[in-house]
Amino acid sequence: MTIYTGKDYQDVSRKAANIMSAQIIMKPDAVLGLATGSTPVGMYAQLVEWYKKGDLDFSKVTSVNLDEYKGLSGDNDQSYRYFMNQNLFDHVNIDKERTFVPDGLEEDSDKACAQYNEIIRKTGGVDMQLLGIGGNGHIGFNEPGAAFEKETHCVDLTESTIKANARFFESMDEVPKQAYTMGIKNIMAAKKILLMATGTSKAEALYNSLYGPITPNVPASILQLHPDLTVVADEDALSLIREKGLL
Ligand code: F6R
Repeated sequence: MTIYTGKDYQDVSRKAANIMSAQIIMKPDAVLGLATGSTPVGMYAQLVEWYKKGDLDFSKVTSVNLDEYKGLSGDNDQSYRYFMNQNLFDHVNIDKERTFVPDGLEEDSDKACAQYNEIIRKTGGVDMQLLGIGGNGHIGFNEPGAAFEKETHCVDLTESTIKANARFFESMDEVPKQAYTMGIKNIMAAKKILLMATGTSKAEALYNSLYGPITPNVPASILQLHPDLTVVADEDALSLIREKGLL
């Protein structure tokens, strides 16, 4: 495991973008595993800036995203497909036909998940998987207690997540109750993993994940067993690890 420290969010974004760019430059037809959420927004913006300067070429890149809400179409501004278009795909020369996100409109969960596993397999495997981390150590939608051996599966969202999302929808009926997510097994199969974390709200999860016992109660703790894990985090997210004298 290698840990790179950033001063702040912007610094972390730039460092992570450098690592992702190096992957694309060294392997132009790389398969990137991508994440949504607030953490990678600055990194995507940096990649777009470098693309516009002519320093990056996405024309041969393939991407597979971690997760998607079940029931939402890619046009819905709460969907993860929409997020990816807005933050990255619409601004670079990636072939949209080679950008994959689980199909939120497929109502048959078994079918949606089997299809997504097949898509991942057909890409030949993820070269670099980008991850954010939840305050409880979740990765993708793999919440505490998730089985390490699962591939893409359908998860029931927690009551608090459903409630938090309710403000973005006109009626409770429209709020997604489930999501499709890559499982820990898919994530661990990536050749390299790039984990980003910023802010004090991630300090405990980061410490538990990187230095605590490996347990499904802290899903990201499995990353300790990955042979090529790079962490880019700011001082706030690393504060507990520093306090324990581990860095
Ligand atoms: C995103 C995802 C989530 C987030 C995590 C952190 O595709 O799967 O696991 O990475 O919830 O979210 P932020 O970055 O918003 O703190």
